[in-house]
Amino acid sequence: MQPITDLDVLQPTSSAPDVAEGIDAPKTLPATVDAPNGKRVFIETYGCQMNVSDSELVASILAQDGYGLSATEDDADVILINTCAIREKAEDRVRGRLARFRGRKVKSQPDLTIGVLGCMAERLRKKLLEEEALVDVVVGPDAYRDLPRLLAETEETGQAAVNVHLSREETYADIAPVRYDTNGVSAFVSIMRGCDNMCAFCVVPFTRGRERSRPVTSILAECAQLVDAGYKEVTVLGQNVNSYRVEENGSVVSFAELLYRISLLSPELRIRYSTSHPKDCSEELLHVHLERPTICNFIHLPVQHGNTEVLRRMRRTYSREQYLDLIGRARSIVPDLALSTDIIAGFCHETEEEHADTLSLMEAVGYDHAFMFMYSERPNTFAARKFEDDIPEELKQHRLAEIIEIQNRVSRERNERRVGIREVILVEGPSRRSDEQLCGRTDSNHMVVFDRVDGLEKGDYAEVDIMSCTSATLLGEFVRKTTLEEAVAVGA
Ligand code: 5AD
Ligand code: SF4
Repeated sequence: MQPITDLDVLQPTSSAPDVAEGIDAPKTLPATVDAPNGKRVFIETYGCQMNVSDSELVASILAQDGYGLSATEDDADVILINTCAIREKAEDRVRGRLARFRGRKVKSQPDLTIGVLGCMAERLRKKLLEEEALVDVVVGPDAYRDLPRLLAETEETGQAAVNVHLSREETYADIAPVRYDTNGVSAFVSIMRGCDNMCAFCVVPFTRGRERSRPVTSILAECAQLVDAGYKEVTVLGQNVNSYRVEENGSVVSFAELLYRISLLSPELRIRYSTSHPKDCSEELLHVHLERPTICNFIHLPVQHGNTEVLRRMRRTYSREQYLDLIGRARSIVPDLALSTDIIAGFCHETEEEHADTLSLMEAVGYDHAFMFMYSERPNTFAARKFEDDIPEELKQHRLAEIIEIQNRVSRERNERRVGIREVILVEGPSRRSDEQLCGRTDSNHMVVFDRVDGLEKGDYAEVDIMSCTSATLLGEFVRKTTLEEAVAVGA
C-alpha cells in the first residue's frame, strides 16, 4: 500500500535519496488524554498510512479500557511500537528503538511494558520474544481487540503475552478510531484489510493476512461522523482498495459504488484513496471520478517496474503495454488526472536494459509524484524462495539514483505546467518552514504554499494563483476564500 504513506510521512516526495527514509519516519501522539486506570500509553507508528489508521484504532481500544494516551515516551507506562516489515531497513529501525526502550526498562523503569504491534509482530513473534527478549507484548494486525487483555496478562504474570492470530473476518468495523496525528481537516478511513495479491517481493500478504472488506454502512457512518466533526477530506485506505467488494441486500457493492456513496455525504468533503492495483482499476471507477467532482483527480497507481519480463517475475499480472494502456484510458476519461506511483530498483536478475525500461516508462507516463525504493529481500516471499537477490547494493543504489533523478525532473515539469493557473486548495495549516505561510493541497494532491492572510483558517477552501514552483511544491498567491461546492459549480 501507499507508503507513509510507506508513506513527510504521508506524501510522496521525490527529493529524498531513498524515499523509504522519509516514509519510515515515526508518527507519535501529539496530545495527552486522561488515564482513568492510571496508566498511560505511548504509541509510535512506522510504515504506511494503514498503520497510522491502525494506531488510531489501538488508541480507541485502549482508551475504552481506561488507558490514557501519552504524547511522549518519557511519562508512559506502556510503550507500543506499531511496526512495518516491508523493507529490512524499516525493521532495523524498529529494533533500534526497542533496544533503547528495553535499556530504559532494565536500568530505571522495571514496570515499563513494551509492546510490538503490526507487521513485524506477525513476522517475528518468536524471535522478538525468545531470542531477543526485547518485548512484553506482541500483537498482530488482526488482534488489537485483545490488547487490553494481553497487557493485563503480562502485568499479572510477568510473562510475555502474544496474539498474532490472523483473521478472515476482522475489519474493526464497529470501532470509532481516536483521531490523533491529525490536523482536524483530513482523516484516514480504513475500508478493507489484508491482501490476496502475492506480489513476489511483498511480505504484506503474510503479515496482514487475507483480503476482507468492511461493511458499507459502517464506512458511511464513519465518514458522516467526520463531516459532522468538521473534517473536509477523507482518504479511504486499503492494501488494494480497487478490490473492495461486499454483498448488500443481494447485490454487490464495488469500490466505485462505495466512493460514489461517500461522495453523496457532503458537497464539502474531498475524497482520496490509496492504494490501487492496476489490474483492478475499472472503467466504472474512472467514470465515478468524472461524475463526482469531490473525488479528487488523483490516483496512486503503483507500477513497480517498466519491463514486462520483470513485472512477470514480480507477479504483478500486467505487462508494460497493459499498464500504459490503462494510463491512456484513465487520462482520456478523467481530464487533468494526476498520477503517482511506487517503483522498485534492483529487483532480482534485473538487467541494464530492463532497468532502462523503468526509466522510459517514467518518461512516458510523467508521474506527478513517486515513491522509489531499492529492492529489499523479505524472508519467505516468492522472490526470496525462487530468485537470488543478485543485484549488488551499489548497483541498486545507482539505479535508484537514476530513477530519482528522472522523477525530480518530471515532477518539476509537471509542477511547471500549473504555474499561471488558478487552483482551489484545502488549507491544512501553517507551512512547515514558516508560521507566516499557509499550505494546502490542490485536488491533484500538489502542495501549495502561500503567504498567510487574515480570516483564512485550516479547513477552509481557497482559490490561489500559482506563481512559481520547485519539484516538490507550488508557490501561490491567495485570491479569495471559497467553498468546494462553489468551486465545483464554477468548474475550478
Ligand atoms: N523491497 C522494496 N520495496 C518494496 N515494496 C514492497 N515490498 C518491497 C520490497 N521487498 C514497495 C512497493 C510497494 C510499496 C508499498 O513498497 O513499491 O508498492
Ligand atoms: Fe504487497 Fe502486491 Fe499486496 Fe501491494 S498488492 S500489498 S505490493 S502483495
